[in-house]
Amino acid sequence: MTEQDFIPSSYPHPLMKGSVSFQSPSNIALVKYWGKYGEQLPKNASISFTLNECHTLTTLHYMKKDSPGFNFEVYLDGNREEGFEPKIQKFLERIQTYVPFVEDYTFRIETSNSFPHSSGIASSASGMSALAMCLMDMERQMLGGMEEDHFLKKASFLSRLGSGSASRSIEGPLVVWGTHENIEGSSHLFGVTYPYEVHPNFTDFQDAILLVDKGEKQVSSTVGHNLMHDHPFAEQRFQQANNQLAALIPVLKEGDLDAFIDIVESEALSLHAMMMTSTPNYILMKPNTLQIIERIRNFRKDTQTKVCFTLDAGANVHVLFPNSEKDRVTEFIKNELAPFCKNGEYILDHTGQGAVQKNVNQQVR
Ligand code: DP6
Repeated sequence: MTEQDFIPSSYPHPLMKGSVSFQSPSNIALVKYWGKYGEQLPKNASISFTLNECHTLTTLHYMKKDSPGFNFEVYLDGNREEGFEPKIQKFLERIQTYVPFVEDYTFRIETSNSFPHSSGIASSASGMSALAMCLMDMERQMLGGMEEDHFLKKASFLSRLGSGSASRSIEGPLVVWGTHENIEGSSHLFGVTYPYEVHPNFTDFQDAILLVDKGEKQVSSTVGHNLMHDHPFAEQRFQQANNQLAALIPVLKEGDLDAFIDIVESEALSLHAMMMTSTPNYILMKPNTLQIIERIRNFRKDTQTKVCFTLDAGANVHVLFPNSEKDRVTEFIKNELAPFCKNGEYILDHTGQGAVQKNVNQQVR
């Protein structure tokens, strides 16, 4: 497929006024996307678990207007959030070729997150994918129907133009984004559900998100991605990520949790190694991030449990473990890791199925 396949010809059933709501989850990458080119295209393929409890609920109110041009307002938990508007403006500019109707409506975007505001959990993946789903629902109505496969691919395609990792939040529980020679159907343009056999060890996999630092990041992901352009280790990193994804295929099939841990932890530390070796260099981990990592490794050694960690572009730690170890590991988190979290806070999440449509009046106002 190419970008051209996402350009509609005309809309035979225009809409006048209405609302649509979607709830879309966050995701946690096992093999990380870090470095991009062109218009939001990844330098390497990535794979993530779709989450279940951490999500954004977005209601898009639309009203047809006469003169073309973007016109929208964003509300977070019922309050106008002008801080989000430049990002949405940019998103609309990028997607306009593919959903040209966005110029013809006045939009009111109402959004709320299930996770605490400024928890350090990025809301861009869940937020952008929820908005993309709302726009796709409008387009589907205006076209008088659409194949489900096209709907999902285009929703992921639009999400990607909002935030790269958002392309992996439409479906679940395992999504690949980025063309990879060993993964049939994979594409740089959109995320696809992982197409091969997955061992029951990975069913309902658990992710406890430990909130280490809730402040604003000193270096945004966008800046971080850009620093990969002149990075001395960039090419090796992109190759490493693609190799780790290839290595993950038999691991997922056989349920090899030890090999899974090696790959996932290597990816987390490689991501942060890129940050620590870019120009300028920077460190997003905090002392408590390392305290937690050390305790996870010791606990794993002492108990033979298959618990591991991953990180996204921040100080928070995602603790990953099989569902069969839930009681034991959550007890460990509560007693030994929570003291290293800001206000002892963490979120227990697990793998989920992706975005779902909601009744408009389910939106909290
Ligand atoms: C470290 O998707 O937030 O979480 O495309 O600029 O919006 P933009 O970046 P973003 O980058 C996320 C990077 C990551 C790894 C990952 O999710 O794969």
